[in-house]
Amino acid sequence: MADKDGLKIAKDYHTDIAFANNNPFHVKGANSLDWGMKKHLANIFDPKSGNTVMFAFDHGYFMGSTAGLERLDLVVPKLMPNIDCLMGTRGALRTCVPPENRKAVALRVSSGSSMLNDDLSHEVVAVDIEDAIRMNADCMAVQTFIGADGQLSSLDNLNKVINAGFRYSIPTLGVVAVGKDMERTDRFFKLATRIIAEMGVQIVKTYYCDNFEEVVAACPVPIVVAGGKKLPEDEALTLAYRAIQGGAHGVDMGRNIFQSNHAIEMSQAIRKIVHEGFTDKEAWEFFQDAIH
Ligand code: 5RP
Repeated sequence: MADKDGLKIAKDYHTDIAFANNNPFHVKGANSLDWGMKKHLANIFDPKSGNTVMFAFDHGYFMGSTAGLERLDLVVPKLMPNIDCLMGTRGALRTCVPPENRKAVALRVSSGSSMLNDDLSHEVVAVDIEDAIRMNADCMAVQTFIGADGQLSSLDNLNKVINAGFRYSIPTLGVVAVGKDMERTDRFFKLATRIIAEMGVQIVKTYYCDNFEEVVAACPVPIVVAGGKKLPEDEALTLAYRAIQGGAHGVDMGRNIFQSNHAIEMSQAIRKIVHEGFTDKEAWEFFQDAIH
């Protein structure tokens, strides 16, 4: 391990230069992976736009019945046409999502917290690789707490899943978790996303922040942006637009879709931004037309 003395501040992100090792496969950092890994990633990321709309409904793994997800069996199927990837727990998928759907699956495999915990940073790998294979998962999602008390155990979880994923060619999605003492700054997100990517994941999920372009430039795999708490729809569309403009290869939104009074139209509007180059203003106009 390099010593920490005399560390120079990283500053040369060359945000104006595209990622170099990307031809011919369309997913960032995946060029040297095997066929199976690439197939799963192509299931998630559209080869034309290079992006994905992940619909996150895995909140129940620690929040229980979440507002807007009281009836997964009703909510998920109606949104299916507008999303590319289902981000859920094995329990939600097996009980509430028809298997004949043709969507990619981001399987939540870590757990161990609940809303009753003050510190959510201590999780385990709950879903083994055999069940991820049974579920035909296109990636396995692991919560990773950098800078929190559970850092070591969450990185151990992450690497266990990465190791199994390489054995069976299933990508890993490293989820940047913002512990209660964490700061939602580019300094924190650059550290967390880069550590997770250096561990060997194929996708990183994080939050939008200032200087987001530098976070993206420093991360050698695609970043998808979580929506976070519910915002007014126009603000959520601006968040999605800024994320894509900043170099994210998609969004992984939950509450800003399923807690909207117009969830279907919201998923349609987000899709316009992610895959069709709509600005937030154009998507907002689309959304307003769609709901009236
Ligand atoms: C919940 C998660 C969600 O997948 C992630 O936060 C995206 O959902 P939202 O847009 O509602 O934040 O990790 O634990």
